[in-house]
Amino acid sequence: MDYFELLRYRQSTRKFTEEQISQNDLSDILAAANSTPVGSNLYKDIHLTVVQSRDVLNKLSKAAVKRWEDKAKIKKIVGDTPDVDLSQKAFDPFYGAQTVIFVSHRKQDLQPGIEFSNAACITYSMHLAAANLGLGSVFMWYALESMREIPELDNTAVLSLPDDFEPLIGIAIGHPATKLSARDLKTGKISINYL
Ligand SMILES: Cc1cc2nc3c(=O)[nH]c(=O)nc-3n(C[C@H](O)[C@H](O)[C@H](O)COP(=O)(O)O)c2cc1C
Repeated sequence: MDYFELLRYRQSTRKFTEEQISQNDLSDILAAANSTPVGSNLYKDIHLTVVQSRDVLNKLSKAAVKRWEDKAKIKKIVGDTPDVDLSQKAFDPFYGAQTVIFVSHRKQDLQPGIEFSNAACITYSMHLAAANLGLGSVFMWYALESMREIPELDNTAVLSLPDDFEPLIGIAIGHPATKLSARDLKTGKISINYL
């Protein structure tokens, strides 16, 4: 797909079917992750975890589910996000996606914050690749933040990460319940100044 056409199809998906993504699509998405630039070429500081086990996702969602009870706080976090129904009881931070890929980074303080930039670049690359394959996807921050907020429900250990790595963000990927549709490309969402 032409890049700007692809941007029209890129969108966050928050409802997935139960169908798993194919191995070929997963390989393409992982190739997109590997094609991403990372600071200082330090690919060895990054680790991906592909989770396709419902049992693991359920464990990772416990803190997010608990946090969902604090509706006043959730309302602030959700902000202007469309498609998030605050009244729903059984909240699944992964929205039923059959595949979630977590991006973890080696803990470091040599270049403070670069780990988040790296993780964002990698996740966005996978997000675009998924859209190009007709798959739905959505960044996953909330589930990880919830585990940091509620240490007693922090199940990060189930990710079996290498020593000294921490998960920074994830992406839920799957077949969208509603086919992706093209949206108009808008300007003006982000403020700009010109010097
Ligand atoms: C860093 C980052 C973290 C995000 N975390 C979540 C999340 O945890 N859950 C969620 O439903 N959406 C999450 N999103 C999706 C945003 O809410 C979404 O991109 C934004 O509302 C714009 O909508 P669009 O992607 O459909 O254009 C995240 C997006 C980014 C860039």
